[in-house]
Amino acid sequence: MTFKRRLVAQLSRPSGWAAPWMARLLDHFNQKQVRRAIAHLAPAPGGRILELGFGGGVSLPLLLDAVGEGGVVFGADPSAEMIRRARRRQRRALAAGRLELVEAGVSALPWPDDHVDGVMSVNTVYFWPDLEAGLAGLRRLLRPGGRLVLSIGDPKELEEMGFAEAGFRTLTAAQYVEALTGAGFADAEVRAHDDPMEGTCVVGTSP
Ligand SMILES: C[S@@+](CC[C@H](N)C(=O)[O-])C[C@H]1O[C@@H](n2cnc3c(N)ncnc32)[C@H](O)[C@@H]1O
Repeated sequence: MTFKRRLVAQLSRPSGWAAPWMARLLDHFNQKQVRRAIAHLAPAPGGRILELGFGGGVSLPLLLDAVGEGGVVFGADPSAEMIRRARRRQRRALAAGRLELVEAGVSALPWPDDHVDGVMSVNTVYFWPDLEAGLAGLRRLLRPGGRLVLSIGDPKELEEMGFAEAGFRTLTAAQYVEALTGAGFADAEVRAHDDPMEGTCVVGTSP
């Protein structure tokens, strides 16, 4: 396997000896993007928020702070190593019942309908096996009026990194807006940022 393919495989599911390094790299390089996604999600104190594919988990303390003592953060990631890392680093929030973590991807989320007020997912939609089904699942989990924020990198850069070649999705933000609208989300729109490190967000509201 080439270095590029190995890197893309690690980005899509950090595993093995490289996983702790990958987690640190993700947290370092994607921190600005994560903060922007949280700003667009605007979690309220007491809120219930799902983060899908949290990777290194830099977002988790930020979300926990935003929802405060009365809120709950739900985190899902299919990487066993990322779940282990988050369990280690967020012992207190887990013990207090303020954080729930599950080892699952977008297609196997275990929660009932209308479970959360907001969902965010940064740099994961490239890897979802079925975009339409994934969006339908998230819509089901969101209470009416709840917000979905997907944050993506520049599709051209992703293609240069070998994502498309490896079979992953490299759609534009406008194409994700179409997909959200097709899945029944209201007011789907792009929130672009000047700094490329902040990525681009696609936001929609559950009807
Ligand atoms: C590139 S990392 C991004 C991590 C973090 N959100 C960030 O931006 O730093 C992709 C993450 O998505 C997770 N992932 C892969 N396939 C997924 C899927 N089908 N559903 C949800 N998460 C997935 C991976 O395990 C990994 O932690």
